[in-house]
Amino acid sequence: RNDKIPKERTLDSSLALLSEGYLFIPNRCKKFQSNIFQTRLLGGQKVICISGEEAARIFYDREKFKRKGAAPKRIQESLFGKNGVQTLDGKEHQHRKRMFMSLMTPERLKILIKLTVEQWELAARKWENTKEIVLFDEAREIMCRVACLWAGVPLKEKEVTQRATDLSDMIDAFGAVGPRYWKGRQARNRSDKWIGDIIRQVRSDKMDAPVDTALYTMAWYRDLDGKLLNLQIATVELLNIVRPIVAIARYITFGALALHDYPETRKKLQDHSQHYGQLFVQEVRRFYPFGPFLGARVRQDFIWEDCHFTKGTMVLLDIYGINHSPDLWEDPDNFLPERFNDWKGSPFDFVPQGGGDYIKGHRCAGEWITIEVMKTSLAFLTQKLAYDVPKQDLSISMVRMPAIPKSRFVMRGIKVK
Ligand code: HEM
Repeated sequence: RNDKIPKERTLDSSLALLSEGYLFIPNRCKKFQSNIFQTRLLGGQKVICISGEEAARIFYDREKFKRKGAAPKRIQESLFGKNGVQTLDGKEHQHRKRMFMSLMTPERLKILIKLTVEQWELAARKWENTKEIVLFDEAREIMCRVACLWAGVPLKEKEVTQRATDLSDMIDAFGAVGPRYWKGRQARNRSDKWIGDIIRQVRSDKMDAPVDTALYTMAWYRDLDGKLLNLQIATVELLNIVRPIVAIARYITFGALALHDYPETRKKLQDHSQHYGQLFVQEVRRFYPFGPFLGARVRQDFIWEDCHFTKGTMVLLDIYGINHSPDLWEDPDNFLPERFNDWKGSPFDFVPQGGGDYIKGHRCAGEWITIEVMKTSLAFLTQKLAYDVPKQDLSISMVRMPAIPKSRFVMRGIKVK
């Protein structure tokens, strides 16, 4: 069985995954000249890795794949939390996902953008009096304030640094072993307690949650059986809103790096062009590494590309590789925002935040938010700020997951225009 697909003869390739990072799947696809191969990961489990647009299409076929049992325990204990929307399938998933998508209305998006501008303005005024700032650290705090204001989560001024660090550490843990992973788990425990207490207070009428906010929605959402979510799950789901808004800080930092490395793009963004802003943000999401791959388990046996997928097998979809595939993107390793003028909008060839359908599948609930917050933030950087970029190590390691420029983008001599 399955003698037609390339196989790595290995007991476990976890060390190779740690040492090759984002390129683990692309390297093997290249070596085997194949968009599909079999390896062993997660303690010697058989794992099939797939790449390409057609691979994404089958990965998001709900008849073929399920998410239950797909997320490793260590990811649930840091990045995801337990029993959240990421782990659901079928009707239960759709019902919960609708709750997430109900928060993404044009009106709520408008409020988010307004908060984003206000927080950049407040922060920038402080920067004028300092010698230099680290953009990634500042953007995390800005986005933490924005996330909490938008979600209806109270946040005291003296809490901001700790909460921003914790929300960010959960994300920082996903590809880590050792101290960075343990920091992520501690951050998860502290954040669970913080958000859990808030939801408990809302439910017992000790705190008001503004209607339409994520806090209100998660506290009062009823599942398919008409029951409130248990406190642990409501907490995980509210953190599934607040945490990834802070994650946008990473893309903002990558955007600043692109403006620095490709100075011709800065002028175009400064021209206040909405259209170019969209192209630029899409290219940042395509070009820079964030999510490496996604995992799901085979729901029922099927055959694809001469490969027998047997029930329960773990399958990884190479999202970094798809965004950089020469079959899908011309000159993929060049930063060219204009390429998005010709993009046809396939839900399966550009998948930085997953692919397929928002409600029926697991595609990122916050993709529109991410795009709009990035546009707003990068417009602020280019139109409202003047700054120098001193010499520093801006290199991005493809082995560190999630990736970030080494120096986290230091800016000096900041002036608000
Ligand atoms: C799912 C990436 C921002 C909420 C996902 C997935 C990816 C992703 C790769 C998994 C897709 C799949 O499993 O098929 C990102 C990146 C972001 C970002 C790179 C930018 C920083 C956001 C924001 C929110 C959000 C701002 C909400 C405010 C979610 C939720 C899911 C999800 C709730 C789970 C969806 C489901 O399982 O149905 N994201 N995301 N994300 N994201 Fe995002």
